[in-house]
Amino acid sequence: MSHEEFPTDRPAVVTCGLPYANGDLHIGHLRTYVGGDVYARALRKLGQETAFVSGSDMHGTPVAVNAEEAGVSPESFALDWHETYEETFPKFRVDFDNYGHTHDETNVELTTQIVRALAENDHLYEKEIMVAYDPAEDQSLPDRYVEGTCPYCGERARGDECDEGCGRHLEPGEIEDPRSTITGNPAEYREQTHEFFRVSAFQEYLGEFIDRLEGTPNARNQPREWIEGELRDWCITRDMDWGIDYPDGEEPRSSENRPEDGDGESDLVLYVWVDAPIEYVSSTKQYTERVGADVFDWEEAWKGEGGEIVHVIGRDIIQHHTVFWPAMLYGADYAEPRAVMASGFITLNGQGFSTSRNRAVWADEYLDEGFDPDLVRYYLATNGGFQQDVDFSWERFRERVNNELVGTVGNFAYRALLFAHREFGGTPDPEAGISEEVRERIEAAIDEFRAAVNDYSVRKAGDAAVSLAAFGNEYIQRNEPWNLVDEDPDRAAQVIRDCVQVAKAVSVLFAPVAPGSCERLWSQVGGEGSVTDAEVGAALEPPAADLDEPTELYEKIPEERVEELNAKLAERVEAADGESDDGDGAPDSDSDSDLDPVIDDRIDFDTFESLDIRVGEIIEAEGIEGADDLARLVVDIGVEERQIVAGIKRLHDLDSLPGTRVIVLANLERAELFGVESDGMILAAGEEADLLTTVGDAVPGERVR
Ligand code: MF3
Ligand code: ZN
Repeated sequence: MSHEEFPTDRPAVVTCGLPYANGDLHIGHLRTYVGGDVYARALRKLGQETAFVSGSDMHGTPVAVNAEEAGVSPESFALDWHETYEETFPKFRVDFDNYGHTHDETNVELTTQIVRALAENDHLYEKEIMVAYDPAEDQSLPDRYVEGTCPYCGERARGDECDEGCGRHLEPGEIEDPRSTITGNPAEYREQTHEFFRVSAFQEYLGEFIDRLEGTPNARNQPREWIEGELRDWCITRDMDWGIDYPDGEEPRSSENRPEDGDGESDLVLYVWVDAPIEYVSSTKQYTERVGADVFDWEEAWKGEGGEIVHVIGRDIIQHHTVFWPAMLYGADYAEPRAVMASGFITLNGQGFSTSRNRAVWADEYLDEGFDPDLVRYYLATNGGFQQDVDFSWERFRERVNNELVGTVGNFAYRALLFAHREFGGTPDPEAGISEEVRERIEAAIDEFRAAVNDYSVRKAGDAAVSLAAFGNEYIQRNEPWNLVDEDPDRAAQVIRDCVQVAKAVSVLFAPVAPGSCERLWSQVGGEGSVTDAEVGAALEPPAADLDEPTELYEKIPEERVEELNAKLAERVEAADGESDDGDGAPDSDSDSDLDPVIDDRIDFDTFESLDIRVGEIIEAEGIEGADDLARLVVDIGVEERQIVAGIKRLHDLDSLPGTRVIVLANLERAELFGVESDGMILAAGEEADLLTTVGDAVPGERVR
């Protein structure tokens, strides 16, 4: 089943994964927030009623552990960070309609209600389990209080997540060789009674849900393995003080207004992953409370049939958003998400960001350097597909700003508007209409933009605008209005009218990615009100007749800046390494890079020799009907032609593949996929299936060694 295309007549809610209120934000974190913001703005451009919400994630061990280190209470620690985030997002023009936090009254109340509903619907039960315990400290060790080995992949993992290995959520007691992160001592296991959510009972529902789910391919495909495998129940309580109390029939309480326990035993709080996603709903509710249900009705979005709920997250939390969260929503009679967009990770000069090593470009630092937020928005939103990992470097940043923003978008707008202003005092006779060619080109850009939104691609939405600006440059160059003014003033006026229209269309279509500079461009073409409120149709409405002299939208970044910024970064990392080297030389666990470790098992040379790997050339490529991701390729491998099925349907433009040289594993056993025989395998890298090719002149059929 597929959903109705955007825009629909139901309200949409775009959410961003809640940041843990536990430390500074760097531009790696911004990727999700910029992505969500661009997407929400783009939906509104299509006329879709949209609320854009998030909030700070206040509870759980990620906050408690850092607060303890800082020597302050988790509450004041989290509130401080919450306030910082609340101020930081708007500085990057990430404009949430509501930004709450999980410890506020709305969320405590709604969480309590939802957990009660789950209990009433018989989805919860009590069970005795063994939990990690630090005998020296005489306390339980939930989640990040314990580290050990992942039982699934053998990598080092922390309590509730295999953050450096397979990425799985780990249940209490599952981690092997547990050690307390407080004392470093081996942990013991002790029996405790906890509440469980019967996720296993939702297998059938989740199987159907995942078939309906839209969004990025990683979020739709990765969960199948978990859902179709053994779905296990989920422990939803923790033995710690900081959090929302497990509701046992009384009033909703967060931990600090809990009465002293008579027996000295602490009550259980809810696992942070229960109350955190509920903040999506609470935050929407707060928005309604502020603007009124006639403007946006949270219940219409979250209850009954529901609205168009789109979750924008990092790819490390796909399981939570495609298994636990939809099961909770379904079990408590709420509406289900329509889409999950999961972003890839971000590296800095090819290595992970690292908070403790100060190896990051901090959000504040970026602004202090005087860069317009639109620049990094553009970089983050369009440097790769959303689900692709992205590397940030100042060099690449400079390149993209100078070539694309200054060279293409800014240059076109300034040239066109300056000419219009000088020769005609603005748009020559705006009502006279634009040429057919330009109308069609703008319409095509709007179509591309709409398709990008329906494809959950913020990159393509940005590209639609930038390639329209590139067309504008080419159009003005080709028509040379400066040579026409004297000979053929009517024709000159037509060309300039066309160009001002293209500039206006660019301001509308590029605004989701670059809202600040597009606001300036919008007013330069005489747009009324804010470009934020203009919908795509405005791209074809005539610009104003009188236009002031334009100013440049973007400024070039000189090469010296890059050197200076790189030097600053290197100096900082060195200083931090001196201070707090953990000695293992590896990026620490908060690094956002997520590369698999090298496989321990070595193979011998003969095994390698037994792989028949060859250069091939794609001859045909077409999608396999009925299969979301599979394409049928015909590949010339020199000695013969092979039909090969590859999971690249959504990741590549199939029409452009013929002629591409690829690397083929030729002696893989044959397989049948969707009724199509696959005779070999195309090698590709990463989640986006980046195709391997050759850089020299190797011809099809040559062996790869
Ligand atoms: N704070 C979590 C993290 O950074 C994300 C919570 S997202 C929500 O991994 F779904 F729980 F809201
Ligand atoms: Zn693992």
